[in-house]
Amino acid sequence: PETGCLSIVVLGASGDLAKKKTFPALYHLFLQGFLPSEEVHIFGYARTKISDDELRNRIRGYLITDKSASTEHLDNVTKFLELVKYVSGSYDSEEGFQLLDKEIAKHELSKNSVEGSSRRLFYLALPPSVYPSVCKMIRHNCMNKSDLGGWTRIVVEKPFGKDLESAEQLSSQIGQLFDEPQIYRIDHYLGKELVQNLLVLRFANRFFLPLWNRDNIDNVQIVFREDFGTEGRGGYFDEYGIIRDIIQNHLLQVLCLVAMEKPVSLKPEHIRDEKVKVLQSVLPIKDEEVVLGQYEAYRDDPTVPDHSNTPTFATVVLRIHNERWEGVPFILKAGKALNSRKAEIRVQFKDVPGDIFKCKKQGRNEFVIRLQPSEAMYMKLTVKQPGLEMLTVQSELDLSYRQRYQGVTIPEAYERLILDTIRGDQQHFVRRDELKAAWEIFTPLLHRIDDGEKKPLPYKPGSRGPEAADELLAKAGYVQTHGYIWIPPTL
Ligand code: BG6
Repeated sequence: PETGCLSIVVLGASGDLAKKKTFPALYHLFLQGFLPSEEVHIFGYARTKISDDELRNRIRGYLITDKSASTEHLDNVTKFLELVKYVSGSYDSEEGFQLLDKEIAKHELSKNSVEGSSRRLFYLALPPSVYPSVCKMIRHNCMNKSDLGGWTRIVVEKPFGKDLESAEQLSSQIGQLFDEPQIYRIDHYLGKELVQNLLVLRFANRFFLPLWNRDNIDNVQIVFREDFGTEGRGGYFDEYGIIRDIIQNHLLQVLCLVAMEKPVSLKPEHIRDEKVKVLQSVLPIKDEEVVLGQYEAYRDDPTVPDHSNTPTFATVVLRIHNERWEGVPFILKAGKALNSRKAEIRVQFKDVPGDIFKCKKQGRNEFVIRLQPSEAMYMKLTVKQPGLEMLTVQSELDLSYRQRYQGVTIPEAYERLILDTIRGDQQHFVRRDELKAAWEIFTPLLHRIDDGEKKPLPYKPGSRGPEAADELLAKAGYVQTHGYIWIPPTL
C-alpha cells in the first residue's frame, strides 16, 4: 500500500452532504487509524469566506451530537479537526484553485510531513452543474506533483445527469479531463453491509446456486420506503423525482448484484462487466407495468411548484431478457412519506409442485435480505407445527445481525467507500458504461413524466402508497403471505 502525503479535498465543504456524510465518514476513518495525522491533511473548499475555525466549528456540530459526549470523544474530534483547513474560492476561477494547490503543496513538501508521495483525492460534494468547471480547474491547477509520485482521483455523487443525453454529455466532459480509473462515481447503496454481502451469499453458498433462476424464483422485489417526505429538499427533489433519486441508481445497482452472473473473479472490472450485462439485458419498460404516486401535501412545500408532476413514489417492473431470468419480474418500488422506513430485497419462490399439504396453504418460500434498518436476512419456510397434529405452519430461519454479531459495529456506507477511493479499489463504484446502460432503461419513461404525459396518483402521507401499486404487484405474480411477520431483535 502507498504511504506518504495524502490530501483529501472536500469541495462544497459547507454544503449538506459534506457536513452530514463526508466529514463524519472521514472522522470515523480517522478514529480507526486509517487517516494518520502525519500523512493526512483535509481541505474544505467552498465559496463562502470563512476561517479555518469557522469551518471546524460547523463540522464539529455534526461530529458531536450528544450533549454528554465523553472527554475522549471531544479530544478525538479536536484532534481530527486540527487536520482540517479551509480554502475559499469560486468553482470556476483559476485563482481559487491555484491557492488550493499551493496549500496542498505546502504540506506535501513540509518537513513535518512524511515524504514520499502526492496523493490527492477530490471529493465533489457539489451539484453536478459545476462538475465540468470544477474538474477542469482541478485538471489545470491541482494535479499531484508527479516528481513525488502518487495519484489524483475525483469522487462524484449522483445525480449524474438527468437523462441519457445529459449523463453522456457529463461523462464525456469529465472523461476528457480524467481517465476512468481516476473517477469514482459513488452510489452509497453499494457501501451498505448487506449489499456488499450479496456477492458472497450468492456465489459462496451451494444453497443458492441451483435455485437462483427462473425455474425456482417467481418474482423479486427491491423496495425502498421512507416514512418522511422531502423535508427541506423539495427544491432539489422536484427537479429529479423518486426514479432519479432512488430507483435508477440505488435500487438498480442492487438489482445488478442480485441478477448478475458469476464474475470471472473478484477484480473490480470483472464484477462491473457482469453488472453491465444485466443492465443491457433489461427490456424496455411497459407502460402498464409502472405506477407512479405523489403524496398529498407534497406541493405544500414552498420550494415545490404548485403544479408539480414529480413522482414521490414509483413501482416499476423490470424484465431481464436472458436465460436465467426470462419471465421473472423484478419489481422496483420506492416511496417517500410512506408508513414505514426500510429497504429490502425480497425473493419469492414458486409454489411447491404436486403439493400434498393442500388443506391449508402456507404461503411461498421467501428469502428476504433486509438492508436497513436492523440488518438481517431471513427465510420464510413451512415446517410442521410442533405438537401432536400433522399441521403445517410458516416459520423462519433468521440471521439478524444485531443478535448474531453483538458488539460489532457496521460501518457507514460512506466510510467504507471513501476508504476504497484512498485504496484505489473501484469495485463498489459505478463505471461509465454501467451508468449509460442505467439511463437507457429509464430515460423514455422519465421523458414521458417530464412531459406531463404520465401522471402520478395521489396517496396519503403515512400510507402504503397508491393502491394501484399493490394491484400491479399482484399482477406481476407476488403473493402476500400473512402467516408470518419477521420481528426485529430487541437487543
Ligand atoms: C439519497 C437520496 O441518495 O438516499 C435521498 O437522495 C434518500 O432522498 C437517501 O433519503 C436514502 O439513503 P439511506 O442510506 O438513508 O437509505
